[in-house]
Amino acid sequence: NMDQFIEDLLSKMTLEEKVGQMNQYNGFWEATGPAPSDGNAKRKYEDLRNGRVGSVLNVRGVEEVRAMQKLVVEESRLGIPLIFASDIIHGYKTLAPIPLAEAASWDLKAIEASARMAATEASATGVSWTFAPMMDISRDARWGRVMEGGGEDTYLGSAIAAARIRGFQGEDLSANNTIMACAKHFAGYGFAQSGLDYYTADIGTATLHNTVLPPFRAAVEAGVGSFMNGFNLLNGQPVTGSSYLQRDLLKGEWGFEGVVVSDWASIAEMEEHGYSEDLKAAAKQAVTAGSDIDMESYAYINHLQDLVESGAVSESLVDDAVRRILRAKYKLGLFEDPYRYCNEEREEALLYNEAHQEAVLDMAKKSIVLLKNEGNLLPLKKEGLKITLIGQLANDKTSPLGSWRIGSDDGTAVSVLEGLSAYEGNEVTFAEGPKLWANEPTFVTPVDVNTTDRTGMAEAIETAQNADVVIMVLGEHGFMSGEARSRTDISLPGLQQELLEKVYENNPNVVLVLNNGRPLTIPWAAERIPAIVEAWQLGSQTGHAVAQVLYGDYNPSGKLPMTFPRNLGQVPIHYNMHNTGRPNTKGDVFYTHYIDSPLSPLFPFGYGLSYTTFAYDNLRTNLRGQSVEVTVKLTNTGDRAGEEVVQLYIRDRAASVVRPTKELKGFEKLMLQPGESRTVAFRLTPQELGFYMPDGQFVTEPGTFDIMVGPNSSDLLQTTIEWK
Ligand code: IFM
Repeated sequence: NMDQFIEDLLSKMTLEEKVGQMNQYNGFWEATGPAPSDGNAKRKYEDLRNGRVGSVLNVRGVEEVRAMQKLVVEESRLGIPLIFASDIIHGYKTLAPIPLAEAASWDLKAIEASARMAATEASATGVSWTFAPMMDISRDARWGRVMEGGGEDTYLGSAIAAARIRGFQGEDLSANNTIMACAKHFAGYGFAQSGLDYYTADIGTATLHNTVLPPFRAAVEAGVGSFMNGFNLLNGQPVTGSSYLQRDLLKGEWGFEGVVVSDWASIAEMEEHGYSEDLKAAAKQAVTAGSDIDMESYAYINHLQDLVESGAVSESLVDDAVRRILRAKYKLGLFEDPYRYCNEEREEALLYNEAHQEAVLDMAKKSIVLLKNEGNLLPLKKEGLKITLIGQLANDKTSPLGSWRIGSDDGTAVSVLEGLSAYEGNEVTFAEGPKLWANEPTFVTPVDVNTTDRTGMAEAIETAQNADVVIMVLGEHGFMSGEARSRTDISLPGLQQELLEKVYENNPNVVLVLNNGRPLTIPWAAERIPAIVEAWQLGSQTGHAVAQVLYGDYNPSGKLPMTFPRNLGQVPIHYNMHNTGRPNTKGDVFYTHYIDSPLSPLFPFGYGLSYTTFAYDNLRTNLRGQSVEVTVKLTNTGDRAGEEVVQLYIRDRAASVVRPTKELKGFEKLMLQPGESRTVAFRLTPQELGFYMPDGQFVTEPGTFDIMVGPNSSDLLQTTIEWK
């Protein structure tokens, strides 16, 4: 059995080989080519052959993986296979929408299926471990990585994290369409102050336990195989060196038996942070804290053997880490067949597979959020219209793929122009407008998308003049969000706001299609532009998804997973705020408000329209023993079929740890035909009604609870219950 196999193997390993398993390198040479003969590549190569590497990242493709695996299996003393890891975030070659967009679907089955599609393509190229899902709760749209997560809410975020883990891992990690998932970044990275990447998070214990940690607990419950720590400080300590998080909570209280990997060089960075004296001290702190694998810090491979031999680190810590790593390899089936994920035929058949293209199209449509539709400008007629399409983003085949898409191919998205052109009944004229970027940004190059070149402005305005409808695709390039893409201004970048205003002056029939990896501040547009469609970065099939929504072949059903602020001053804004002691005026100014802006958001969490309308009534509660049944009647009051996400929120009026004024505790997405009514039922149990105390203990307290149900976090029917 597995445990016996691992103990036998462990007993044969030298200390150096054990430390080798804890060492992870980035891909450094083409394994199908000649061996590297100098520099760091040579050193890494020798380490591979000598059993001093346990896993690698960023080596993909059956030929490459097979060649590197062969080197290790055949030349190292024990032939322990490598695990090949990659950031498979929202697809591999075929790309689904960015995770924030997928979260807008509130469709857990679809999200799970999307992760499975990503796993299927990735595993067909030799990869068996993804560094996803990211489950950092994010309330600050300045932070570029909000695109990679499930948004601002803990309940929704936890459900999405679990769905993605199920999708990546399935029931059997050794199957050839599943890969090991990784819950990241443990913990607090999404709370980086000022939205500044890699920066400090200070999180009070109530928020830590009730907001930040629950998705990670949910990940453990969903059986996630691995965790990644992170780059940030949490309350004054690098999380990579946090024993509290990794040993006490994760491996202790939560009973996690999987493997913990550091973030890229995050062990070494503890020195830069001012926590570790030097790399050797960092190695000691990280291993003591429970980081099992060192990704690209060279801390373990250079120092851990010494640390153990000198008695500074107990070998039992190393053994514990190695057991975890070997278990992962065993579960992935690598001991049975190190080449399990190396099959050229599958690789050929599965990358860009037609069924995957259909799946991501479906997911893309589900992810679109209709923010405004005054006078039913949408959906568009399919014939006889003169349409002007404006914006560099509308004609781009790379930006819609979004950020975090390691190994994918630029230029493979269907652009909005192509999507619209697939409908032939209307005349579409395209005008690029002023450029948002001069040189297309990439994953690793600095982003400069603020060109001030006005070329194209006058022509776009002019072309808009005689159109029946102007469709403007504005927002951010796909590489304006993601890692290291923090912004201090989250309005439309470059000359786009000016372009929007001038076009609107000439022709008010504007449909604004937003492409963005984070909430944007668009108050001017929200007030004036009649139709606004949030289309994020939707992946390979972006153009078709957008066109099918604009033409009404798909009725939009997405809801915002993050609040859209009116202005940057409101950030970090989120729906589940606490009350102050002075929420309302008593006639004077001494209450909680801004003197220059409303408190309310531009578009609240959970918000999104449809081409049909829904009515909510008959909110009822029924206490049944240890749970409360909540029912509400939903009616499709419009003239077309549509899907609605019914949302349940609660407020515990008085609690030992003050609860937010609203907390999402249930949702259901359902399709109703015109005129159809359905009663939707939720069940609230102590799990939903309780909360964590500052010491991490979960409690439920009797008292009065508001129960609220509706189409978004601001527009809710309300009743109360007494919980005993
Ligand atoms: O998985 C990522 C992580 O999220 C950020 N730093 C690099 C890692 C590996 O690519």
